[in-house]
Amino acid sequence: MVSYKELGLVNTRAMFAAAVKGGYAIPAFNFNTMEQMQAIVQAAVETKSPVIMQVSKGARNYANATILRYMAQGAVEYAKELGCAHPEIVLHLDHGDSFELCKDCIDMGFSSVMIDGSALPYEENIALTKKVVEYAHKYDVTVEAELGVLAGVEDEVASEVSHYTKPEEVIDFATRTGCDSLAISIGTSHGAYKFKPEQCTRDPKTGKLVPPPLAFDVLHEIEKKLPGFPIVLHGSSSVPQDEVDTINAFGGKLPDAVGIPEEQLREASKSAVCKINIDSDSRLAMTAAVRKYLAENPSHFDPRQYLKPARDNMKKMYIHKIVDVLGSNDKLLQK
Ligand code: G3H
Ligand code: 13P
Ligand code: ZN
Repeated sequence: MVSYKELGLVNTRAMFAAAVKGGYAIPAFNFNTMEQMQAIVQAAVETKSPVIMQVSKGARNYANATILRYMAQGAVEYAKELGCAHPEIVLHLDHGDSFELCKDCIDMGFSSVMIDGSALPYEENIALTKKVVEYAHKYDVTVEAELGVLAGVEDEVASEVSHYTKPEEVIDFATRTGCDSLAISIGTSHGAYKFKPEQCTRDPKTGKLVPPPLAFDVLHEIEKKLPGFPIVLHGSSSVPQDEVDTINAFGGKLPDAVGIPEEQLREASKSAVCKINIDSDSRLAMTAAVRKYLAENPSHFDPRQYLKPARDNMKKMYIHKIVDVLGSNDKLLQK
């Protein structure tokens, strides 16, 4: 058993309370590779932002759970080396789907876990979430739960249609589970194809898809039921069209990829939404840079040559999200 506190990580409690009060959101960036980790830490240090580094079940399978945990420990030390005296880095399990997985992460030094029981019947979601909360709180680890189902694939959790969170359930759910934050469904979804073209309109000038707005009425009803309670938005990549265009210009094929407009994420950040999950935008930033580099330098084959621009492009994207969208820059609690 390793406590995250020994690794210099923090849980989400204090940063969420400050974010809800201050009208900004903490970025939750997924990572699978060293370059993503480095870019996240560089961006967080340069902007003096707290940050959540999250690991999915797929990331654990790809990179190895132990390696990822040591990378997070390394991230804290790297942040200090870059000049941040008191880094506020959370190591979070994204979309945990069982008690055993959550326990395993808590035991190996994660400071926060998500138990995603959103595909289960309501009472089963409550029972599973409560069991994880009881274990996690013994070690001062914070727990994110989910109510309502996002369209698309959530690791093992699949749903064809989007079911918005029912505001009338949130008080009962939060009280009975004791969860520390709640992921809700208001129209976001995972991946680079968040809406079907028939759900969107088209910008007459660019021909690009314009997605329908998020259900802010549902969010505001939830906020009224649970004043000050930390709310989480998954599936919040904006799928930057310049990255999509670069990918398509250099041999990729991502027709009609569409995300959540940043203006709507900016608005959500000012509400009780205090954690915004971004993974696909990092994948797009990395792929765009690699495709462009290799197309322009066909004789190069040293991975450092093409991963460096990829890392720089991800860092630029992370800084943009922190400063221009979520507003978590200069929000470290301990200067
Ligand atoms: O919610 C999904 C995240 O983007 C993680 O995706 O399961 O492919 O690692 P993944
Ligand atoms: P995106 O696919 O929109 O980046 O969502 C990531 C996410 O919600 C991770 O849990
Ligand atoms: Zn998610």
